[in-house]
Amino acid sequence: MVRLKSPEELVLMRRAGKVVADVLDRVRESVRPGVTTLELDTLAEDYIRSCGGIPLFKGYCPSSDMTPFPGTICASVNEEVVHGIPGPRVLEEGDILSVDVGVSLDGYCGDAACTYPVGNISGKRQALLDVTETSLNKAIEAAIRGHTLGDIGYAVESYVKPLGYGIVRDYTGHGIGKKMHEAPQVPNFGHPRRGVSLQRGMTIAIEPMIMSGREDVRVGENGWTVFTADGSDAAHFERSIAILDDGPEILTPWTSRMAH
Ligand code: MF3
Ligand code: CO
Repeated sequence: MVRLKSPEELVLMRRAGKVVADVLDRVRESVRPGVTTLELDTLAEDYIRSCGGIPLFKGYCPSSDMTPFPGTICASVNEEVVHGIPGPRVLEEGDILSVDVGVSLDGYCGDAACTYPVGNISGKRQALLDVTETSLNKAIEAAIRGHTLGDIGYAVESYVKPLGYGIVRDYTGHGIGKKMHEAPQVPNFGHPRRGVSLQRGMTIAIEPMIMSGREDVRVGENGWTVFTADGSDAAHFERSIAILDDGPEILTPWTSRMAH
């Protein structure tokens, strides 16, 4: 279980998280029809290195039967859920693009994601984005001392399921600290008051991945990219947070564009 050991550690987590947030806000400014996902990746890597940070995903290899992830960002378009590999794909008007990025700065990690519209998008896609971001906000509101991981998952599940959306269950949020992935896993479904209880100083990444169709995903031929099984759209919003005495603090303060 990852917990802050000192006020200094909170400062370092904030610094790493701020670089992550700034990368996402910069990428968003460049998302438009005609741009390739590799151009966005280059922009992200250059910015992270200019801050003295290290891209956490580049070279990441969770098991020996996988190839190292080649990008700084994950760039997942439309029916791609997560772990899209940046490349020559040209974004088109009406696409949605999920960008996930992790940074290590001075030994501490930040991780966040956002799904962006490319130009004008359909009402159905905009609704998917709004529901997914709102589900993240509800999960963060539930992340208070004395609550449990089940309360966080339930906040997502009880909001999105009645609206008819699917939750990705094979991938979860996670503790984050000196390493990108620490205990505990943070699922986007659960039961109130069940599971690990949330304690002061815990730092976690909450990351709902929501589909407009059926609840099933598959991994593509490159061994990385996760697709919705039925070809429906997916969205992904993530923030790293710290659970403090007076509530959750957002460590990756990327700018929301959701209409309130
Ligand atoms: N962002 C993912 C997570 O939050 C990790 C992606 S690792 C990569 O767990 F190598 F695939 F990029
Ligand atoms: Co994450």
